[in-house]
Amino acid sequence: MKEQLEAIRESALRAIQEAGAAADLEALRIRYLGRKGELTAVLKRMGTLSAELRPAMGQMANEVRAALEQAVERQSAALEQKALEARLALETVDVSIPGKREDIGHRHPMYTALDEFKEIFINMGFEVMDGPEVELSEYNFTKLNTPDDHPAREWTDTFYLDEESRTLLRTQTSPMQIRALETYGVPIRMISPGRVYRKDEVDATHSPMFHQIEGLVVDKGITMADLKGTLNAVIQEIYGAGTQTRFRPHHFPFTEPSCEVDVQCARCGGKGCPTCKGEGWMEVLGAGMVHPKVLSGCGVDPEVYSGFAFGFGLERMAMARFKINDLRLIFENDIRFLEQF
Ligand code: PHE
Repeated sequence: MKEQLEAIRESALRAIQEAGAAADLEALRIRYLGRKGELTAVLKRMGTLSAELRPAMGQMANEVRAALEQAVERQSAALEQKALEARLALETVDVSIPGKREDIGHRHPMYTALDEFKEIFINMGFEVMDGPEVELSEYNFTKLNTPDDHPAREWTDTFYLDEESRTLLRTQTSPMQIRALETYGVPIRMISPGRVYRKDEVDATHSPMFHQIEGLVVDKGITMADLKGTLNAVIQEIYGAGTQTRFRPHHFPFTEPSCEVDVQCARCGGKGCPTCKGEGWMEVLGAGMVHPKVLSGCGVDPEVYSGFAFGFGLERMAMARFKINDLRLIFENDIRFLEQF
């Protein structure tokens, strides 16, 4: 039995030391130390020994078992260490490799212009409202005193979303006048920026989608003087102090009287140049006193309340603010263009 134990110790220790993988090591542990293992088999025969031999053999068997268990543990730790080293080698970070730069971009010039615009109006006590781009023609036209036969309602001008012409991509932000009055009533001071859609071909000054900023003030005793005073003050802020303005009579179905407002061309000072197409003036917005029919349609008594409304073109404003000469540049999102602002 002594020789047997010696032999097991020797062959087992060698095999354990040579085990190259955790699975191999586990197989060896089972082969020698397992319930049906070689060492266990020897131990089971301990009972057949004489009483004199048994203690010595028992002790030796225990020593062999302890030695094997220790060897398995040592080898297991060694294998783990090796695996860790291999993984670390694989995952080494070379800190000397130049990093990859992420382009994070920045605010679009048109939104910078919009932010500045909002700031001016917020400082004057206006609220900023958001409205739907998919609108009811009732709000886009009817409630804005725009009759069924008005040319703005033509299918060739407007993106309708159903055969009955009930819904459309709004052609203007003016329906927000109605929504604001219906939701919040009077008195009211609000602006509402957003996208509008018209069936225009794309060129340097046209796009089927562009942005307007609607404005509405309704209260007791509001007059054309308030309209002119407010818009002149805003234009001085946007286009610079001393900017000359011109209020031209115009027609909008939902304002009476109506006007268009021009600013003197900053580039030529009114003499006429390519920027203003030789006019000396550039149109920046449409405006007017809210039509009594619009007010009464929203449940506001036009005998008591009056107001003014206006609609700025955002792209045009951004183009003037940043000296951009082609509308398409604003929508193309060419990084080389955008990075200049
Ligand atoms: N909605 C008009 C347009 O798109 C502009 C406007 C707004 C005119 C408000 C008067 C009052 O041309």
